[in-house]
Parts: sequence; C-alpha cells; structure tokens
Amino acid sequence: MAERFRPDLRWSDATPKATWLDRRRLLAGAGAAAGLALARPAAAAIVASPSRWSTDEARNSLADVTGYNNFYEFGTAKEDPAANAFRLTTDPWAVVIEGLVERPGTYDLADLLRGRPLEERIYRLRCVEAWSMVIPWIGFELAGLLARVGVRPGAKYVAFTTLYRPEEMVGQQWGILAWPYVEGLRLDEAMHPLTILATGLCGEPLPNQNGAPLRLVVPWKYGFKSIKSIVRIALTATEPPATWNRTQPGEYGFYANVNPAVDHPRWSQATERRIGGGILAPRVPTLAFNGYGEHVAGLYAGMDLARFY
Ligand code: MTE
Repeated sequence: MAERFRPDLRWSDATPKATWLDRRRLLAGAGAAAGLALARPAAAAIVASPSRWSTDEARNSLADVTGYNNFYEFGTAKEDPAANAFRLTTDPWAVVIEGLVERPGTYDLADLLRGRPLEERIYRLRCVEAWSMVIPWIGFELAGLLARVGVRPGAKYVAFTTLYRPEEMVGQQWGILAWPYVEGLRLDEAMHPLTILATGLCGEPLPNQNGAPLRLVVPWKYGFKSIKSIVRIALTATEPPATWNRTQPGEYGFYANVNPAVDHPRWSQATERRIGGGILAPRVPTLAFNGYGEHVAGLYAGMDLARFY
C-alpha cells in the first residue's frame, strides 16, 4: 500500500545495519525456531461456540493466516510480521477506554475478557490490495464491550489506537506511517453484531503477527480497518482520524466498505486473489460489502458510496 510514496522501499533499506545483521542471525536460527513452533505445547485450544454469522467457505490454513500479513509495525513485506512479531510483549496488557463513556478507565485485558463468552466467527477478509482469505477468528461482539462501559449520549464514533512501542515494534522505528496506527468506526458500525474484537484464530490465542492480544475485525470493510494490538478505545462525537485515510486520502476512505464498483485509483477492485489457491487459481469476483450486504447495506442507505468510499 505504501508503494506510491516509497516506490522502491525494501525493508533492508530502511533498517540500520546492526538490526539487519541481528535479523540475519535470527533467520539463521529459523530452523530451530521452526522446530520450536512445531513443539509449541502452551497454546491451549480455546473453547468457542459456533456462530450463525460464520461462512461455510473453505478456511485458509494456519500457515496462510499467520505467514502472509499486513502489520507495518513489524515491516512492510508480507513475511515481516511473522519474522519480527515475536518481540512483542502481550502480557500484561491494558486497554484505556475513554471519551463519551459512563465508566472510563484503564482496564486490564483479563478483566475485560472475564465472563465474556467467546465465539468462533469464520469471516472473509478482503484486503484493499485485492487479496483475500477466510479466517476462523475467535472473539466477541464489540457491542457487548461497549454496553459494559456504557455509551453516553452524544457519542457517534469509536476510535481505536494500536500500541506504540518502537523497541518491540521495529517498524515504528521508521516513519513509514505516522505512529501509532489509528482507526475508527461510526457507532452504528461498531454496534453491528458482525463487528468483533478477536482474541484468537484457528482455535488458538491470537498470534502476535495477527494483532495479539486484541484486534478489531470488521468483515465488510477492507482489512486496513481491522486494527491490531489495540490499547485505546475512545467514544467520540466527531469522526476520528484513520491511518490510511490520513496518509493517502484520495486512495483510502474513512468508510472503506468493500466495493467492487469503486476501483482503487491504481488498481481494479472488481476481483480478488484468494491466498492459498496457488498462482494458477482463477481470481474470484469481489462482492459488495464483501458478501455481507444483506446485513450491513442498510447502514449506508441514502449515502453515495462512490463519494464516501
Ligand atoms: N493494524 C495495524 N496496527 N497495523 C497494520 O499495518 N494492517 C491492516 C490490518 N490491521 C495493519 C493493521 C491491513 S492492511 C490488513 S489487510 C489486516 O490488518 C491484515 O490482517 P492479518 O494480517 O491478520 O490478515
């Protein structure tokens, strides 16, 4: 997504030599690391109930979901998050909830999750870059959390902020984006039952490269709305800033609803490449609202979706 303003950026170009060498040493140890990953005993399976909101399409493999990522805090190449996100400390983790809420505060993640039943939600994820996956998330509806903290009258939007910790998130040591990554939803979008906060995927706790320990998933919008590693949720009266919209307003809108009829200025959004299908697999048509239109189109009744893209 950054190609336009950094046309030939390679991660190695932006990385000081010491870190680069360190990374090569790490890569040299990758065989051992792979062994460790296979032996990984600790990730206890999460108990989550099935959901009527899940698709029955074929799911992507754990290797696809955890090996091909966008998480610029760990680098711009698809394999960078898997290589670098092990540095992120996700315990302890607190989320500040503030703004137009009845019970603002700094909530420990364990406290936020206590007593909250988890569901498996198998959703399509459509990236604005025109690739897609089917991911079995584990999580809970954002609406439930908002009800717990109490939304005050006057709140119209929900703003989200990712952790800023450059010593662990190596991509934040360079100005690829204005850190921290931020995103936002209209309140009615945030309250929609399809909108979840995920704490796991493929039956396991959320891997760091997918936004551990808590990330947003909004399946009818381009993937960049689904902000990772959230540390702050604020209820606001006005539209909050959103990272890609702020970076390239002519290319990435605030709404970012998946829309095959509105092309990105540099590529078509009519079709997508399903990751894992192999290079010969035919592209599949992109569906309006990523196929969730019957549930969410009503949120945008009367809006010109070519203007509010
Ligand atoms: N959140 C943060 N904080 N930083 C990012 O770079 N990338 C977004 C989104 N959330 C991103 C982010 C984009 S462009 C996509 S497509 C999805 O995360 C990818 O999620 P996944 O890697 O879990 O498939």
